[in-house]
Amino acid sequence: MNSRIRNLEEYHKAYQESVENPEKFWANIAEEFSWKKPWSKVLSWNFNAFDVKWFEGGQLNITENCLDRHLEERGNQVAILWEPNDPNQASKKITYQQLHEEVCKAANMLKKLGAEKGDRICIYMPMVPEAAITMLACARIGAVHSIVFAGFSAQSLADRINDSLCKFVITADGAHRGAKDISLKEIVDEALLQTSCVKNVVVFRHTEQKINWNESIDRWWHEEIADCSTVCNAVAMDAEDMLFILYTSGSTGKPKGVVHTCGGYMVWAGYTFKNVFQYEEKDIYWCTADVGWVTGHTYIVYGPLLCGATTVMFEGIPTYPNAGRFWEVIDKHKVNIFYTAPTAIRSLMACGDKFVQPYTLDSLKTLGSVGEPINEEAWQWYHEKIGKGKCAIVDTWWQTETGGIMISPLAHITPTKPTFATLPLPGIQPILVDSEGKEIEGINVEGNLCIKFPWPGMIRTTYGDHERCRLNYFSTYPNLYFTGDGCRRDYNHYYRIIGRVDDVINVSGHRLGTAEVENAINEHPHVIESAVVGYPHPIKGQGIYAYVICDHVLEDPNQSRVEILSIVTKMISAIAKPDKIQFVSGLPKTRSGKIMRRILRKIAEGEMNNLGDTSTLLDPSVVESIKEGALK
Ligand code: WT7
Repeated sequence: MNSRIRNLEEYHKAYQESVENPEKFWANIAEEFSWKKPWSKVLSWNFNAFDVKWFEGGQLNITENCLDRHLEERGNQVAILWEPNDPNQASKKITYQQLHEEVCKAANMLKKLGAEKGDRICIYMPMVPEAAITMLACARIGAVHSIVFAGFSAQSLADRINDSLCKFVITADGAHRGAKDISLKEIVDEALLQTSCVKNVVVFRHTEQKINWNESIDRWWHEEIADCSTVCNAVAMDAEDMLFILYTSGSTGKPKGVVHTCGGYMVWAGYTFKNVFQYEEKDIYWCTADVGWVTGHTYIVYGPLLCGATTVMFEGIPTYPNAGRFWEVIDKHKVNIFYTAPTAIRSLMACGDKFVQPYTLDSLKTLGSVGEPINEEAWQWYHEKIGKGKCAIVDTWWQTETGGIMISPLAHITPTKPTFATLPLPGIQPILVDSEGKEIEGINVEGNLCIKFPWPGMIRTTYGDHERCRLNYFSTYPNLYFTGDGCRRDYNHYYRIIGRVDDVINVSGHRLGTAEVENAINEHPHVIESAVVGYPHPIKGQGIYAYVICDHVLEDPNQSRVEILSIVTKMISAIAKPDKIQFVSGLPKTRSGKIMRRILRKIAEGEMNNLGDTSTLLDPSVVESIKEGALK
């Protein structure tokens, strides 16, 4: 493990090497993994046409690196430690040896059903080990997994299945989520009414609830897998073959399928996990994300398994049966490294310290934060109450598109500063630019965060639409990857992520496009037009504020609000429900018809008297009437 950084000096040295000689730097790191065939070229790239290739000519299978490679040394070590939703139910420990067998069996099951290299397989599952097993089984045979978070609606699921023409859906009868059960199979059934590409639905029995059965399509997991062999050859994948697709929201249109490839993603996932968390042999590591998000892909499954770690997989939610659940699980499994989202920290902080007090939390060494900016108060609470003042906090900034952590302290190495993601990882070259794309140099400055050099884990394309990918990320500023985030660089060159500068909002760490929410609201028969903005929310980070124009004066606005919320839930997910809906008679538009969201954001924030320049508005009186009706 020579790529392990042990102190600040080594970090600076590695960083410098990664900039001065990136190909040599990454070749050294990639050599620590097992390849079926060596690469012929480390990197070729062009941001303007957007074409990036890492480790070209090389062949590998990521599951050999996650599983086979560890068997000799740690076959009996726990790979996945599963903690169920119900605290009275037993947890489950799966060793590397067992995981290897389970993955091979599942891979053989997929093959038996007709899955082939390159096929897309949709995973719509609860947080059970079989979700990770299915991911790895896909990777084993070279199929491309596309996980859809099990909180998304049938419509969202159908859209994602259709966009990448998935041949199989792997699901469960249901999911336990706190006191509720979610009928996953029923949602899949509904989604399938709108799709024609799915050959089979494989159903893992979990909640044992009653489900409908379609003989011609549905297959039980336990029946199909029963006679499958525990030996399965890992398919040789080209470094640039697709590993997975993960849909994420952008500022326009429908969510797009971010594509990650086998070689670069593997190197990046392993390298960042090892260094950011400073994982040591025998550490118990717990990331509370769901495998439906990129955090779950990289830091529950691939990163930890690549490094031979013990990764905790938690089925439940932070507040069930009460707001002490996280802390109870930490003590129960003696968790050393804990990685969660600011939203969870803020909501647990709001429940009061009495839920923390019963627990010692003395196994903890490192605490991580991800998904949204962490405010100072939450950082301090996390540090004092959970970390007892002795744990390192790593505030990790990254995105679905970046594949892994980009800017973050290295635990116990980089001096931290609340609310700052601090320094870029080796290989990451951040640059701040103004709205014209001119570089903003120096310190104590703010600008749009871009990255000027490729890194192994970066997005390769958006599924089925490469031009959209190029336009989205590489056309705003020539020769730069644009992140969509605003960012500050402090006196000591530390980076602080301020939040999105595009029309993407971040609600409880969930990423949503305002256009996506507007399109759902506009499905209401009486809605003519709507505009959605984010506003600061004490727990969720951002709340959703919708301004809605209807075709007549509503007799019962509350009834219409209920209807709109139900449409949004149906079209997208309960995550996307607006917190506030204000019915308005008009929206502030420029003469060219563009909605001035800046003004709507100010009103949503309650900054009525500080609306900035309104001189380009077509009809300034609209603003006055919106202000009068604004919701507190
Ligand atoms: C957006 C990406 C990264 C995995 C989970 C979210 C925001 C993410 C931080 C952080 C401030 C953060 C950014 C980014 N974000 N981490 N540590 N500090 N903001 O992935 O759904 O692709 O969202 O989340 O705005 O662009 P995602």
